[in-house]
Amino acid sequence: MSKVLSLVVGGVVLVVVGVSVASVLPRTSNQGYSPTQPIPFSHKLHAGTNKVPCQYCHSDVEKSRHASIPSTAVCMNCHKLVKTDSPLIKQVAAAWAENRAIEWVRIHELPDFVYFPHKRHVAAGVSCQTCHGEIQTMDKVYQFGALTMGWCMECHKGRSTPSNVLEFMEAKGHPNGEGLVAPIQCQTCHY
Ligand code: HEC
Ligand code: HEC
Ligand code: HEC
Ligand code: HEC
Ligand code: HEC
Repeated sequence: MSKVLSLVVGGVVLVVVGVSVASVLPRTSNQGYSPTQPIPFSHKLHAGTNKVPCQYCHSDVEKSRHASIPSTAVCMNCHKLVKTDSPLIKQVAAAWAENRAIEWVRIHELPDFVYFPHKRHVAAGVSCQTCHGEIQTMDKVYQFGALTMGWCMECHKGRSTPSNVLEFMEAKGHPNGEGLVAPIQCQTCHY
């Protein structure tokens, strides 16, 4: 019995030590992360030069928690006709013909215990560029924002918040408290 008890107590001590070590270590961030993609897809060429709207490809960003990555069928809306002689477009067309998804490597990823709803931010007028940088100038996407807890909090507390968003929340009469742009209670972002 006492052996079981000491195992349990030992386990608790380990958990406490683990948590305090985690809170002392500096937060690591994947800022700057820019993996090589299976096909070099350029946002500069599509969203910049050819002015294809972000939502044409990331169509769920206003509707749901996640921004969707476009399917190969969306690429083929244009590439059935555009640049069909390009070896890269031939790869896209082959994937589509074989009903095979292109395995895009995920860049931005929060831990599972964090809740982040895209649509709430887009509805409050936070632009994609505030969090993702000038994507329409990037040949290769990289993680622009730190995506740490402090990064979220600075904006929710009204410190790093863009002025259009401050004005939008002011017009709503500060529903989250004076000076606050969005809630800062733990359960807002953690389940
Ligand atoms: C023609 C389609 C298309 C358009 C238009 C487009 N994107 Fe993308 N986007 C993609 C594809 C495909 C990927 C995955 C490959 C990559 O990361 O480059 C992606 C990836 C991303 C990522 C990284 C996703 C991750 O894994 O974390 C962000 C952020 C992003 N896009 C934002 C934008 C913004 C902002 C705009 C408008 C300025 C935009 N995109 C316009 C197709 C598009
Ligand atoms: C709204 C139309 C449109 C959509 C949708 C679109 N593209 Fe494009 N894409 C273009 C245009 C226009 C060009 C530039 C063609 C040129 O340079 O003549 C281009 C160029 C490219 C190139 C460069 C080809 C080369 O050899 O120079 C690649 C690769 C590419 N697209 C991949 C994709 C992928 C992958 C998707 C889907 C995620 C996609 N495109 C979706 C319009 C589109
Ligand atoms: C308030 C900051 C913020 C804004 C505004 C924002 N994003 Fe994001 N975006 C994030 C975060 C944080 C993630 C990582 C989400 C996760 O891992 O759950 C992300 C992830 C993504 C992804 C990868 C797929 C996903 O949902 O995980 C895409 C694509 C994307 N964003 C596109 C966009 C586009 C397009 C816009 C503008 C219409 C936009 N984002 C606006 C912060 C933002
Ligand atoms: C640039 C500013 C900005 C950044 C960065 C930002 N947020 Fe927000 N957030 C807002 C605004 C504005 C709202 C909308 C408040 C409203 O509609 O009342 C919001 C709302 C939310 C909500 C909904 C709150 C509710 O009332 O239920 C959650 C959850 C949330 N944010 C999580 C996050 C997380 C997690 C991050 C970091 C990964 C983050 N936010 C980064 C500005 C930001
Ligand atoms: C606006 C959103 C937001 C709010 C509010 C928030 N967090 Fe977080 N929190 C995050 C994000 C994003 C991460 C993951 C990135 C990181 O670890 O910095 C995180 C990570 C954490 C971690 C893990 C840190 C680690 O070392 O891995 C703990 C513990 C935590 N939060 C506790 C809290 C507590 C306690 C509160 C309330 C006082 C709170 N959070 C409020 C967004 C938030």
